[in-house]
Amino acid sequence: MELTNLDLKIWRGDAAGGELVSYRVPVREGMVVLDAVLWVQANMAADLAVRWNCKAAKCGSCSAEINGFPRLMCKTPIAEYGDQVTVRPMQAFPLVKDLVTDVSWNYEVNKQIPPFTPSEKDASGSEPWRMQQKDVERSLEFRKCIECFLCQDVCHVLRSHDLKGVYYGPRFMVRIASLEMHPKDVLDRRPLLKGKAGVGYCNITKCCQEVCPEHIKITDNAIIPLKERMDDVYFDPVRSVIQRFSGANRKAGE
Ligand code: SF4
Ligand code: SF4
Ligand code: FES
Repeated sequence: MELTNLDLKIWRGDAAGGELVSYRVPVREGMVVLDAVLWVQANMAADLAVRWNCKAAKCGSCSAEINGFPRLMCKTPIAEYGDQVTVRPMQAFPLVKDLVTDVSWNYEVNKQIPPFTPSEKDASGSEPWRMQQKDVERSLEFRKCIECFLCQDVCHVLRSHDLKGVYYGPRFMVRIASLEMHPKDVLDRRPLLKGKAGVGYCNITKCCQEVCPEHIKITDNAIIPLKERMDDVYFDPVRSVIQRFSGANRKAGE
Protein backbone atom coordinates (compact mmCIF):
# COMPACT_ATOMS: atom_id res chain seq x y z
CA MET A 1 0.00 0.00 0.00
CA GLU A 2 1.35 3.43 -0.98
CA LEU A 3 1.18 5.73 2.05
CA THR A 4 1.07 9.49 1.81
CA ASN A 5 -0.09 10.55 5.27
CA LEU A 6 0.18 8.95 8.66
CA ASP A 7 -2.22 9.40 11.57
CA LEU A 8 0.34 9.55 14.37
CA LYS A 9 -1.04 9.66 17.89
CA ILE A 10 1.46 10.70 20.57
CA TRP A 11 0.81 10.68 24.27
CA ARG A 12 1.29 14.25 25.54
CA GLY A 13 1.39 15.25 29.17
CA ASP A 14 3.23 14.84 32.43
CA ALA A 15 2.85 13.10 35.78
CA ALA A 16 -0.26 15.20 36.52
CA GLY A 17 -2.09 13.82 33.47
CA GLY A 18 -2.30 13.93 29.69
CA GLU A 19 -3.89 12.50 26.56
CA LEU A 20 -3.20 11.14 23.10
CA VAL A 21 -2.86 13.93 20.51
CA SER A 22 -3.23 13.21 16.76
CA TYR A 23 -0.82 14.57 14.18
CA ARG A 24 -0.97 14.18 10.38
CA VAL A 25 2.52 13.35 9.18
CA PRO A 26 3.67 13.08 5.54
CA VAL A 27 5.29 9.69 5.03
CA ARG A 28 8.41 9.09 2.98
CA GLU A 29 9.96 5.81 1.99
CA GLY A 30 11.98 4.10 4.71
CA MET A 31 10.57 6.29 7.49
CA VAL A 32 10.81 4.95 11.03
CA VAL A 33 8.62 5.96 13.98
CA LEU A 34 11.34 8.26 15.37
CA ASP A 35 11.44 10.17 12.03
CA ALA A 36 7.70 10.78 12.30
CA VAL A 37 7.93 11.92 15.93
CA LEU A 38 10.82 14.27 15.11
CA TRP A 39 8.85 15.65 12.13
CA VAL A 40 6.05 16.54 14.55
CA GLN A 41 8.56 18.18 16.90
CA ALA A 42 10.10 20.20 14.03
CA ASN A 43 6.84 21.23 12.34
CA MET A 44 3.89 21.07 14.71
CA ALA A 45 4.88 20.80 18.40
CA ALA A 46 8.27 22.29 19.30
CA ASP A 47 7.68 21.49 22.99
CA LEU A 48 7.27 17.73 22.38
CA ALA A 49 9.64 15.86 24.72
CA VAL A 50 11.37 12.84 23.20
CA ARG A 51 14.69 11.22 24.07
CA TRP A 52 16.97 9.89 21.34
CA ASN A 53 20.62 9.97 20.40
CA CYS A 54 22.12 7.56 17.85
CA LYS A 55 19.20 6.80 15.48
CA ALA A 56 21.01 3.53 14.86
CA ALA A 57 19.47 1.20 17.48
CA LYS A 58 22.63 1.33 19.59
CA CYS A 59 22.23 3.94 22.34
CA GLY A 60 19.00 2.57 23.87
CA SER A 61 17.52 6.07 24.35
CA CYS A 62 14.40 6.03 22.16
CA SER A 63 12.46 3.26 23.90
CA ALA A 64 8.68 3.68 23.79
CA GLU A 65 5.48 1.68 23.39
CA ILE A 66 4.43 1.58 19.76
CA ASN A 67 0.88 0.33 19.15
CA GLY A 68 1.13 -1.22 22.61
CA PHE A 69 4.44 -3.04 22.14
CA PRO A 70 7.76 -1.92 23.71
CA ARG A 71 10.19 -1.07 20.88
CA LEU A 72 12.96 1.28 19.82
CA MET A 73 11.40 4.13 17.81
CA CYS A 74 14.49 4.41 15.58
CA LYS A 75 14.30 0.75 14.59
CA THR A 76 10.57 0.50 13.87
CA PRO A 77 9.52 1.16 10.24
CA ILE A 78 6.21 2.97 9.76
CA ALA A 79 5.50 0.52 6.94
CA GLU A 80 4.97 -2.26 9.51
CA TYR A 81 1.85 -0.54 10.80
CA GLY A 82 0.04 1.01 7.81
CA ASP A 83 -1.37 4.51 8.35
CA GLN A 84 -2.15 4.39 12.11
CA VAL A 85 0.58 4.55 14.72
CA THR A 86 0.21 5.28 18.43
CA VAL A 87 3.25 6.06 20.58
CA ARG A 88 3.19 6.13 24.36
CA PRO A 89 6.01 6.40 26.93
CA MET A 90 7.25 3.33 28.78
CA GLN A 91 4.77 2.53 31.53
CA ALA A 92 7.10 0.91 34.07
CA PHE A 93 8.95 4.13 34.92
CA PRO A 94 7.87 7.52 36.28
CA LEU A 95 6.86 9.95 33.54
CA VAL A 96 8.85 13.14 33.06
CA LYS A 97 7.04 14.60 30.03
CA ASP A 98 5.40 13.25 26.85
CA LEU A 99 7.58 10.30 25.71
CA VAL A 100 10.35 10.81 28.27
CA THR A 101 10.47 8.68 31.42
CA ASP A 102 12.82 8.72 34.39
CA VAL A 103 14.88 5.52 34.14
CA SER A 104 17.40 6.51 36.85
CA TRP A 105 16.24 3.66 39.13
CA ASN A 106 18.05 1.29 36.75
CA TYR A 107 21.37 3.08 37.24
CA GLU A 108 20.96 2.88 41.00
CA VAL A 109 20.37 -0.89 40.74
CA ASN A 110 23.44 -1.22 38.53
CA LYS A 111 25.61 0.33 41.27
CA GLN A 112 24.54 -2.40 43.70
CA ILE A 113 26.05 -5.20 41.58
CA PRO A 114 29.69 -5.90 42.49
CA PRO A 115 31.86 -5.51 39.36
CA PHE A 116 34.07 -8.06 37.63
CA THR A 117 36.53 -9.49 40.18
CA PRO A 118 39.44 -11.68 38.99
CA SER A 119 41.57 -13.71 41.40
CA GLU A 120 44.62 -11.94 42.85
CA LYS A 121 46.84 -14.22 40.78
CA ASP A 122 45.06 -13.31 37.54
CA ALA A 123 44.91 -9.63 38.45
CA SER A 124 48.60 -9.34 39.23
CA GLY A 125 50.05 -11.85 36.75
CA SER A 126 51.58 -10.90 33.41
CA GLU A 127 50.43 -14.05 31.57
CA PRO A 128 47.57 -13.60 29.06
CA TRP A 129 44.29 -15.07 30.30
CA ARG A 130 43.12 -18.21 28.51
CA MET A 131 39.40 -18.90 28.14
CA GLN A 132 37.32 -21.49 26.30
CA GLN A 133 35.71 -20.12 23.12
CA LYS A 134 32.23 -21.09 24.40
CA ASP A 135 32.80 -18.94 27.51
CA VAL A 136 33.85 -16.02 25.32
CA GLU A 137 30.72 -16.37 23.19
CA ARG A 138 28.41 -16.62 26.20
CA SER A 139 29.82 -13.41 27.60
CA LEU A 140 29.56 -11.64 24.24
CA GLU A 141 25.82 -12.29 24.05
CA PHE A 142 25.24 -10.56 27.40
CA ARG A 143 27.52 -7.67 26.46
CA LYS A 144 25.30 -6.78 23.49
CA CYS A 145 22.88 -5.09 25.93
CA ILE A 146 22.29 -1.42 24.97
CA GLU A 147 20.41 -0.58 28.20
CA CYS A 148 17.19 0.34 26.42
CA PHE A 149 15.24 -1.03 29.43
CA LEU A 150 12.48 -2.39 27.18
CA CYS A 151 12.80 -5.71 29.02
CA GLN A 152 12.34 -3.89 32.34
CA ASP A 153 9.30 -2.11 30.89
CA VAL A 154 7.54 -5.32 29.87
CA CYS A 155 8.38 -7.38 32.98
CA HIS A 156 5.12 -7.73 34.91
CA VAL A 157 6.99 -7.88 38.25
CA LEU A 158 8.18 -4.30 37.72
CA ARG A 159 5.39 -2.98 35.48
CA SER A 160 2.15 -4.35 36.95
CA HIS A 161 3.22 -5.04 40.51
CA ASP A 162 5.86 -2.28 40.84
CA LEU A 163 8.09 -4.58 42.90
CA LYS A 164 11.22 -2.52 42.22
CA GLY A 165 12.20 -2.83 45.88
CA VAL A 166 12.58 -6.61 45.68
CA TYR A 167 13.50 -7.50 42.07
CA TYR A 168 16.28 -5.99 39.96
CA GLY A 169 14.57 -7.02 36.68
CA PRO A 170 15.72 -8.87 33.55
CA ARG A 171 18.35 -6.33 32.40
CA PHE A 172 20.23 -6.88 35.63
CA MET A 173 19.84 -10.64 35.55
CA VAL A 174 21.72 -10.33 32.24
CA ARG A 175 24.44 -8.23 33.89
CA ILE A 176 24.78 -10.62 36.85
CA ALA A 177 24.87 -13.60 34.46
CA SER A 178 27.68 -11.96 32.45
CA LEU A 179 29.73 -11.73 35.65
CA GLU A 180 28.76 -15.05 37.25
CA MET A 181 29.44 -17.02 34.06
CA HIS A 182 32.77 -15.33 33.37
CA PRO A 183 35.43 -18.00 33.99
CA LYS A 184 37.90 -15.44 35.37
CA ASP A 185 35.51 -13.91 37.91
CA VAL A 186 35.81 -15.33 41.44
CA LEU A 187 33.08 -13.44 43.29
CA ASP A 188 29.94 -15.41 44.26
CA ARG A 189 26.85 -13.26 43.58
CA ARG A 190 24.33 -16.03 44.38
CA PRO A 191 23.53 -14.60 47.85
CA LEU A 192 22.78 -11.27 46.13
CA LEU A 193 20.58 -13.06 43.59
CA LYS A 194 18.63 -14.82 46.32
CA GLY A 195 18.37 -11.65 48.43
CA LYS A 196 18.19 -8.09 47.10
CA ALA A 197 18.28 -8.98 43.39
CA GLY A 198 15.23 -11.23 43.90
CA VAL A 199 15.62 -13.70 41.01
CA GLY A 200 12.93 -15.83 42.68
CA TYR A 201 10.31 -13.26 41.61
CA CYS A 202 10.85 -14.15 37.94
CA ASN A 203 8.38 -16.79 36.85
CA ILE A 204 9.93 -17.36 33.40
CA THR A 205 7.15 -15.82 31.30
CA LYS A 206 9.81 -14.87 28.69
CA CYS A 207 8.12 -11.55 27.83
CA CYS A 208 11.45 -9.76 28.37
CA GLN A 209 13.17 -12.01 25.83
CA GLU A 210 10.53 -11.24 23.19
CA VAL A 211 11.12 -7.47 23.27
CA CYS A 212 14.94 -7.36 23.43
CA PRO A 213 16.18 -5.48 20.32
CA GLU A 214 19.57 -7.18 20.65
CA HIS A 215 17.89 -10.62 20.65
CA ILE A 216 19.56 -11.59 23.91
CA LYS A 217 18.01 -14.81 25.17
CA ILE A 218 17.40 -13.19 28.54
CA THR A 219 15.35 -15.97 30.09
CA ASP A 220 16.88 -19.00 28.39
CA ASN A 221 20.55 -18.04 28.66
CA ALA A 222 20.67 -15.76 31.74
CA ILE A 223 17.76 -16.20 34.15
CA ILE A 224 17.17 -19.97 33.94
CA PRO A 225 20.91 -20.82 34.35
CA LEU A 226 21.11 -18.37 37.28
CA LYS A 227 18.12 -20.05 38.92
CA GLU A 228 19.78 -23.44 38.40
CA ARG A 229 22.97 -22.20 40.08
CA MET A 230 20.86 -20.98 43.00
CA ASP A 231 19.20 -24.39 43.31
CA ASP A 232 22.66 -26.00 43.37
CA VAL A 233 23.86 -23.94 46.30
CA TYR A 234 20.67 -23.55 48.33
CA PHE A 235 18.75 -26.76 47.68
CA ASP A 236 21.44 -29.42 46.96
CA PRO A 237 22.59 -30.41 50.47
CA VAL A 238 25.74 -32.30 49.35
CA ARG A 239 27.03 -29.49 47.17
CA SER A 240 26.13 -26.95 49.81
CA VAL A 241 28.28 -28.70 52.44
CA ILE A 242 31.22 -29.06 50.01
CA GLN A 243 31.08 -25.37 49.10
CA ARG A 244 30.80 -24.26 52.73
CA PHE A 245 33.95 -26.15 53.70
CA SER A 246 35.95 -25.48 50.53
CA GLY A 247 35.56 -21.68 50.99
CA ALA A 248 36.51 -21.31 47.33
CA ASN A 249 34.33 -18.36 46.46
CA ARG A 250 33.93 -14.94 48.00
CA LYS A 251 30.27 -14.09 48.57
CA ALA A 252 28.62 -10.82 47.59
CA GLY A 253 25.33 -9.40 48.80
CA GLU A 254 24.55 -11.54 51.87
S1 SF4 B 1 10.75 -13.96 32.30
FE1 SF4 B 1 11.05 -13.12 34.37
S2 SF4 B 1 12.24 -11.24 34.03
FE2 SF4 B 1 11.36 -11.83 32.06
S3 SF4 B 1 9.43 -10.67 31.91
FE3 SF4 B 1 8.93 -12.71 32.78
S4 SF4 B 1 9.01 -12.40 35.01
FE4 SF4 B 1 10.08 -10.63 34.09
S1 SF4 C 1 18.67 -6.97 27.80
FE1 SF4 C 1 17.85 -6.34 25.79
S2 SF4 C 1 15.88 -5.37 26.26
FE2 SF4 C 1 17.00 -5.51 28.17
S3 SF4 C 1 18.04 -3.53 28.39
FE3 SF4 C 1 19.49 -4.93 27.37
S4 SF4 C 1 19.17 -4.63 25.18
FE4 SF4 C 1 17.40 -3.72 26.21
S1 FES D 1 18.11 6.66 19.05
FE1 FES D 1 19.65 5.30 19.85
S2 FES D 1 18.60 3.43 20.06
FE2 FES D 1 17.15 4.71 19.09
